[in-house]
Order: sequence, then C-alpha cells, then structure tokens
Amino acid sequence: MAANGSEKQGAKAYYVTTPIYYVNDAPHLGHAYTTVAGDVLTRWHRQRGEKVWYLTGTDEHGQKIMRTAEANGVSPREWCNELVEGSWKPLWEHLEIANDDFIRTTEDRHTARVREFVQDLYDKGEIYQGGYEGPYCVHCEEYKSYGELLDGEGEEKLCPIHKKPVDMLKEENYFFKLSEYGPKLLEFYERNPGFIQPESARNEVVNFVRQGLQDLSISRSTFDWGVKVPWDDKHVIYVWIDALLNYATAVGYGSDPAKFEQTWPADVHLVGKDILRFHAVIWPAMLMANGLPLPGKIAANGWLMVGGEKMSKSNLTGIKPQDLTEHFGVDAYRWYFLRAIAFGQDGSFSWEDFSARYTSELANDFGNLASRVAAMVGKYFRGTLPAGGAYGPAEQAVMDRLSETVREADQKIGEELDFAGGIAAIFDFIKLVNGYLTEQEPWKVAKTAFPSGEDTTESRESRARLETILYTAAESLRATAVLLNAIMPASCEKLWASLGAEPEIGPLAEQRVAEAGVWGRLPAGVTVTKGESLFPRLQEPASEG
Ligand code: MSP
Repeated sequence: MAANGSEKQGAKAYYVTTPIYYVNDAPHLGHAYTTVAGDVLTRWHRQRGEKVWYLTGTDEHGQKIMRTAEANGVSPREWCNELVEGSWKPLWEHLEIANDDFIRTTEDRHTARVREFVQDLYDKGEIYQGGYEGPYCVHCEEYKSYGELLDGEGEEKLCPIHKKPVDMLKEENYFFKLSEYGPKLLEFYERNPGFIQPESARNEVVNFVRQGLQDLSISRSTFDWGVKVPWDDKHVIYVWIDALLNYATAVGYGSDPAKFEQTWPADVHLVGKDILRFHAVIWPAMLMANGLPLPGKIAANGWLMVGGEKMSKSNLTGIKPQDLTEHFGVDAYRWYFLRAIAFGQDGSFSWEDFSARYTSELANDFGNLASRVAAMVGKYFRGTLPAGGAYGPAEQAVMDRLSETVREADQKIGEELDFAGGIAAIFDFIKLVNGYLTEQEPWKVAKTAFPSGEDTTESRESRARLETILYTAAESLRATAVLLNAIMPASCEKLWASLGAEPEIGPLAEQRVAEAGVWGRLPAGVTVTKGESLFPRLQEPASEG
C-alpha cells in the first residue's frame, strides 16, 4: 500500500484552498480554524488514495497592510516578510498543517499573472474607466452600500462587520462589468446546487445576486501598495481582484499549463462567511469573463465568537492558538474546534468546554481505551497480540458498527465537510468498544484462563475467549487510528507505534480510509507496547479566559 501506489498519475488533484490571510497582524484562533479544517479535509482525501493539493498563503497588498506598516515605521514589504516568516508560517508548522504550497501575493509568480489576467479582461472589453463615490471600509477593503451601515457617534457611519468608521471615497477607477454576470451566475447556482455550502449561505448569495449586481471598481489610484494596472501605472489593482487570483496563479495559471490542467479548478474554497460574496459572486464572474472553469464548491464556515462578537485582533481576550496548544497539545487543539462547532455555524470557545471535552472524550474514552488494551495484551500475552478466535454476536456488533462508522465518517468528513458529525461517529464507535470491554470483562475471563496447574477445558476456553476479546479491541484501535489520523496525526502515530502495526502493515499515513473497516488487517503476533499516555491529564490552566 505505498502512498502513491493507488494514486492515479495524471489525474486531476483534489484541490483545496484556505483564504489567503491579511498579514496586518499575527494569526489568531479564527484563522487557524479554517486552516486546520482544510488540513483535515486534505489529509482525509490523501488517505482515500487521491492526489491532493492544499494551498494556503497571505494577502499582502492594499491599504490596510500599508497603513499598518506605516504605523510600525517599516516598509510594507518588510512588514509582510517579518510576519509571514516570524508568525504565519511557524504557526502552520506548529499546528502540523501539511500544505503543499504557500503563496504570497507579493511574489513575482503571482503579480505577473495578475497583470496578464487583468490585461486580458481589458482587451476583451470587460473593463472600462469610470468614477465612483461611496463609503469604504478599509478593514473589509470593500465599498459598502449606504443601507448596510450602522450609526456611530454624531454623523459617523460604521461598517456592519468591523463596527469601525467607514471612509468616504471618491475615485476615478477602472470597473469590471460585474453587473452583466447576474443572470449567468444565477443559472450557474441553479445548475450546481452544491456550489455554495451551507444552504443558508447559498440562499444569501442567491438573494443578493437577484437584487442586481453593480459593476465593480477594480483599481485604486490613491495609494501604490499593489500590483500596477498594466495599461495605466497610476493605478494599482484592487486588492480583492489581486487576492482571488492567487488560487489560479499558485497552481500554474499562465505559467505551467500542465500543472494548471492537473489542479484547476479548485474542488473546495474554504472561506469565512464574511468573505463569501467575493468568492461566490465576484470570483466566478471573473473566471467566466476569462473563460476558465469554475470551482466546485465554496464552503463558508462560521465565526469563532468571543463574548458574542466575532473574534478578531482587537477582540481576542488575549488567547493565542499557542496558549491553547501549550495547555491541551496540538492534536487536541486540531480536534476541539472541529468537534465542538458545526462547520458553517458560529461557535464560541471556552476553557471549561475544551477541558471537559478533552477529559471525557480524549483522555477517558480514547486514551484510556488505548492504554487499557495495551496493558492487557502486555499482562496476559507478554505483549504479543493473540489471534481473534470464534467471533460471537458481541464481536459481530463491533465489526458491523465499524463498517457503518467508516461509511459515515467518509461521507461526512470527505464529502459534506461535516467535521463535527464525522468525528462524533468515530467517537461513538470508541464508546461502543469501551462498552464492549466493560461487558466482556476480559480481566475476569483472565482469572480462569491461566490456571496455576494443568490446563483444563475451561482454561482453554477462557484463554480463547480472552484472545478474541483483546484482538477485537486492538483491531478496533487499529481502525480508529486510521480514521482519526487526519485530525490528530501525532497521537495516532503514537497509537500506531503502540500497536506495533507499522512493520506489518506499513506507515499510518498510507492506510486507506476504505481499509479502516476491513476487519483483520492487524495481524496476530504484532508486538503491542504500552507507550506514554495519548492524552495526559490536564494541568490546571494558568488563567481562565
Ligand atoms: N485577505 C482576505 C481573504 C482573501 S481570499 C482570496 C481576508 N483576510 S482575513 O485575514 O481578514 O480573513 C481571512 C479569513 O479569516 C476569513 O475567511 C475570515 O472569515 C476568517 N476569520 C477571521 N476572523 C474569524 C473568526 N473569528 N472566526 C472564524 N474565521 C474568521 O479576508
């Protein structure tokens, strides 16, 4: 089962993207949430034996970054370099994110292609020069409509997302004829009901487009931190046009046709719900205008909330991803947010909830099962896994449930992006195996299995029974390690090592999801060892958030 053995060479990769993040500050829990989700999704597909491409990166142009750099007394480029190398990339490494590429919008491989793309639209008559005046939120990098603004102090008007004052901008700009794409977009949504997920997000976009689209200003002339408009270098390209194109430029658009062919279109763009319209309206219209295939799915996730507000730089209650990984470990961190929040919905974080779930599900249900089974194989069989003998109804129930679990988890995680549902199914299976052990009471069976004197029929039967019980539990753990590997790779590696699986059936990362449910993959005779605890007891948190 070599990793690449069943990959179809030349087949299109399953291509997943995260938003490219603004580097005006260090990453926070909200950013990490989407990036971990994409990592789990792509690891899952790799374990299906598919060719996969996972892209993340940073959005480095625009006024917001420029102002932040100025406020810190450095050039925008220096600012971006420092944050990307000093904060963003290290966090993704720390969280075991296995991205295949990392794109920065200041890279030549990107900027050159952005210019070509925009020039192409210009040549096709999709772009014209015009004027615009309206309220602009620099935090969204977007013009707002008057109707959506909130009242601030006095005459002040606020952005509905950032609750910060908008600027009144009046500009001579270049415009993309977005208004012409409304009917085509609506037809596309109609024909592709799964294009926008969840349903609520789809409805929001459809209603928005039905109201009629305005042309989109795609250049700025009041500052210069951006990609120059090819035919008019007094203008830079609007940061969102520049940013959206990363998904194409990073996989060889305009530079590596073979790679582009094998990767584009993206299968899933993961986005936060605040940037849904850019991805579900503007981006497909840009691609239509240029004759490129459209992505398969725009999956909008909800927000992590703090005190009822979207978690943001100014609204973090001081919790950094690293604070949580230090306390709970990286794997538990990766697991918690996907387990506790239905993908697509908002969710809040609390130390109490995380601690409670860690203790009950990770430490008690999963970790204890692993250590109990290893301890019993050690104690009764000197660490050599016995063969499963005659399976009875209790074992059959475990096997049946395992096949159902694999099917359900694969559908939920791999297809529906219902991470919470998929993880719940796997943990229900773990509970079932714990219940199986409690009912079968191997420690009692063991009392008659090893008589001090001669073997008797009873002792032989007990020993066979004990062997079957422990094999069933260990084989269930083997399957669980395969299923949870995408979510908690380091802990599952430990479990894999403790089961002595690798020398017999190969590295964990190369185990296929479909085979997780094939009973009997772990051969009898492997050496089972009780390693360190998978999820150690928590220390009291230093501070309560
Ligand atoms: N640079 C743009 C994206 C361009 S993609 C072509 C951008 N950057 S961002 O850094 O402001 O936000 C990136 C992502 O982080 C968005 O999907 C946003 O929803 C997400 N989040 C920011 N705060 C969040 C939470 N509190 N919770 C969940 N996700 C959040 O927008």
